[in-house]
Amino acid sequence: MTSEATTNKDRVYIFDTTLRDGEQSPGATMTLEEKLQVAEILDDMGVDIIEAGFPIASNGDFEAVSEVAKRSKRAVIAGLARAIPADIDRAAEAIRHAKRGRIHTFVSTSPIHLAHQMRKSQDEVLEIITKTVTQARNLIDDVEWSAMDATRTPVEYLMRCVEAAIKAGATTINVPDTVGYAVPEEHFSLFKTLIEKVPGADKVIFSTHCHNDLGLAVANSLAGVRAGARQVECTINGLGERAGNAALEEIVMALRTRADAMPYYTNIETTELARVSKIVSAAANFPVQYNKAIVGKNAFAHESGIHQDGMLKNAETYEIMTPASVGIKATVLVMGKHSGRAAFKDKLRELGYELGDNAFQEAFVRFKDLADRKKHVYDADIIALVDDEVGSAGDRIKLVNMEVISKTGGVHRCDLTLSVDGEPVSVRFDGTGSVDAIFNAIKEAVGSQPHLVLYAVDGVTGGTDAQASVHVRLELNGRIVSGQAAEPDTLVASARAYLNAYNRLLIERGAAAQGALAG
Ligand code: KIV
Ligand code: ZN
Repeated sequence: MTSEATTNKDRVYIFDTTLRDGEQSPGATMTLEEKLQVAEILDDMGVDIIEAGFPIASNGDFEAVSEVAKRSKRAVIAGLARAIPADIDRAAEAIRHAKRGRIHTFVSTSPIHLAHQMRKSQDEVLEIITKTVTQARNLIDDVEWSAMDATRTPVEYLMRCVEAAIKAGATTINVPDTVGYAVPEEHFSLFKTLIEKVPGADKVIFSTHCHNDLGLAVANSLAGVRAGARQVECTINGLGERAGNAALEEIVMALRTRADAMPYYTNIETTELARVSKIVSAAANFPVQYNKAIVGKNAFAHESGIHQDGMLKNAETYEIMTPASVGIKATVLVMGKHSGRAAFKDKLRELGYELGDNAFQEAFVRFKDLADRKKHVYDADIIALVDDEVGSAGDRIKLVNMEVISKTGGVHRCDLTLSVDGEPVSVRFDGTGSVDAIFNAIKEAVGSQPHLVLYAVDGVTGGTDAQASVHVRLELNGRIVSGQAAEPDTLVASARAYLNAYNRLLIERGAAAQGALAG
């Protein structure tokens, strides 16, 4: 246990796993640049531990963990490893350059996992724990051990496993609710039992890691904290496998807003929450649900007359925290077609973007184009435009030109020119509607037939001149990827979102340990 943890008994450490468990969410793959951007903001906003990936999973994962480690400032950088010697060595190598690194190794402990996935006896797993934690401790001082599917493990056996991990040198013990099965009272008791009864428990930090299958991830995490856990594993926007992980912003704001009921604190700069939510949503191409607590579009919107009346008289009538405390600024009319480079740069800085020269230049050209076409340009328009620009910067296949004909009861045709690695490719294709014709034309041009899993259109702001924000999710050979684009023209946005997703299919990702990735 760190000396700070010993002295500050009420401090809760935030372990962010957006880049590992979050990125495992189908379709949420991020590029290296996006991961680095997310890691930097997590580090700057006070996240204590960043789980940057699963180094053995692929060369891409290894490179991401290693690069995040090299650039880390204050945060501990963790790399995940199964209870396999090669995984542990690879994780150690990936975090080698971190200012402070951690190996996070896990093994299943529940009867169902032991019987069907591991095909090992309880005693064999106990031996594996001792061996692998010892191996990790010989490589680094900071070792976290996780009991996968802990909440479906008989508590007596779980206690023996935790004891073995502590004896072998684990410094953090994580008790995951891998399948989101726990309920708060039960989770509280589980942590109480482990912390009070396992020999050596006072020497380590206990950690919660809750999945949201029953919508209880945050409640269970907080129950763990009340019982003595001092590390919470969570993700931005609750991103993660299936129904996701506990949402970082919800944990942090619950602890802050209800400090009277839960007298614990974190080191997170809460005014960064809205910004990091937007950046992760754009990077992972995962829209945030409108009524999502803390960071949803409607989280601070008051629609009913009674509520609006109360808000005008005193905001505290219906607001338990201020939008400003999570970094939400009032929507303002920002700029028009006469705004120059300096004003645009200032606005970007205010919205939290620092673009390189080329990216700034391209974003400025698109802003001017948008301002020519759209009467009012709002903050939301600029955010959509920049996220789109950044998210498609490395795309190998780009839209050059498109013409769509759509006749009632008649033909729907798309003439399309793409640039594929700099080479022009032109095709014509018909469809049952305009979007179908566009997507068919793209498939013809790239010579591949991914399956369309999701197509969603939303307005960035109100009004018929609003930019259309389009999300597309594609599946090819079991891999799911997402893409997005924002444009005043819905059809152009659709084509660009499809291409953005397709480009992500082209990013190489090894299959090595994918099957073993945990929830
Ligand atoms: O949910 C889980 O059990 C995990 C472990 C790898 C910690 O993600
Ligand atoms: Zn998990």
